[in-house]
This record gives sequence, structure tokens and C-alpha cells, in this order.
Amino acid sequence: MIKDTVLARRTVRRFTDEQISKEELNDLLMYASMAPSNGNAHPVEFIVVSDKEDLDYLSKIDKFGAKHIANVPQLVLFIANKSLCKYWVQEASMTAAFFQLLAEDAGWNTGYIPFNENKTDDKEDAEDYVRKHFDIPDNYGVLAMVALGKKDERVRKRKEFPIDEKIHEGKF
Ligand SMILES: Cc1cc2nc3c(=O)[nH]c(=O)nc-3n(C[C@H](O)[C@H](O)[C@H](O)COP(=O)(O)O)c2cc1C
Repeated sequence: MIKDTVLARRTVRRFTDEQISKEELNDLLMYASMAPSNGNAHPVEFIVVSDKEDLDYLSKIDKFGAKHIANVPQLVLFIANKSLCKYWVQEASMTAAFFQLLAEDAGWNTGYIPFNENKTDDKEDAEDYVRKHFDIPDNYGVLAMVALGKKDERVRKRKEFPIDEKIHEGKF
């Protein structure tokens, strides 16, 4: 049931060396691409990264938040063709969220790290830092990286959240 997948999904930062097959990853990304999309444009594309030097490069974007990325087995960059859509952040975010749940449901674990609106430790625009290394065209927004693998750490299944104070009936 989808609720069980939502409860089970936790951010993972330490993974085993196991890599997903290209076929399985492509299948997960195909389903993630079915997230809602303005005008049915589906402008989101993916860069799959597993090369150690590339992972090292991405890990240097933030010495606290992304250090562990040097040691993940693979990750996916979520980018969106801004020439095809008006709401690239929402498009890529929804696709990434779908991907995290699909991966969890298939027995994989994930962790999300954003680039947009972010600066590197050297104060460079984080999107530009990633764009130049991976030859991403200027008309693409570079939203985030989602690390993917099998967890090598203990993570707790979520408990249900108290929600009543966040739900407003009719007006705030
Ligand atoms: C916008 C956003 C930014 C995040 N930034 C980072 C980050 O820089 N590094 C990281 O390891 N996790 C990052 N995360 C993951 C959160 O830390 C994580 O979702 C949060 O601690 C809740 O834990 P859970 O995902 O296990 O429920 C980010 C998540 C979101 C949605």
C-alpha cells in the first residue's frame, strides 16, 4: 500500500556498494516521469552519475550537507528544460518525489539534496557549479540530486504525524 511506502521512506546517507541495473533504474525514471505536468509537457530529464570523480565533485558542493555523496553508489540529477515549461521547479520536484517513493517501493533507498536557490561553500551558484561540470545547457534548471542505493545504516520507519493543527477548515 502506498501509505506503507510513505512511512518506510527515510533519507539515507550511507549505502552499500550495490548498484541498480540500468533497466531497473530506467523503469523507475519512466514511472517518475508520469508525475503531474503543466500542459502535459513533461520537461524533466535525468543524468545518472556513478563515476567516482563526478561523485567527488558533487560532494564538494556543501561540506556539511553533501559530503557523503562521494561514497554513494549512484545518484540521479533532476534537470528540467525551461524552454518547455513555466514551472520547472514544481515539475522537477514532483518528479523527484515520485522517484523517491517508487525507489522505496522497489526496495531501494534515497536521499535528496537541492541545488536551485543554493550556493556552494565557495559562494558559487550551485546550479552553475553542476551545470558546467555535466555540460548541462543554460536553458535547463538544475533542481537536485537524489542518491540511490541500498541502505548501510539503521533508519526508523516513520510514526504517523499529528496533523490536526496543520489542517484549516474553510479559512485559516
Ligand atoms: C529541500 C530539501 C533540502 C534538503 N537538503 C539536504 C541536504 O543538503 N543534505 C542532506 O543530506 N539531506 C537533505 N535533505 C533531506 C532532509 O534532510 C530529510 O528529508 C529530513 O531530514 C527528513 O528526514 P526523512 O527524509 O528521513 O523523512 C533535504 C530535503 C529537502 C526536501
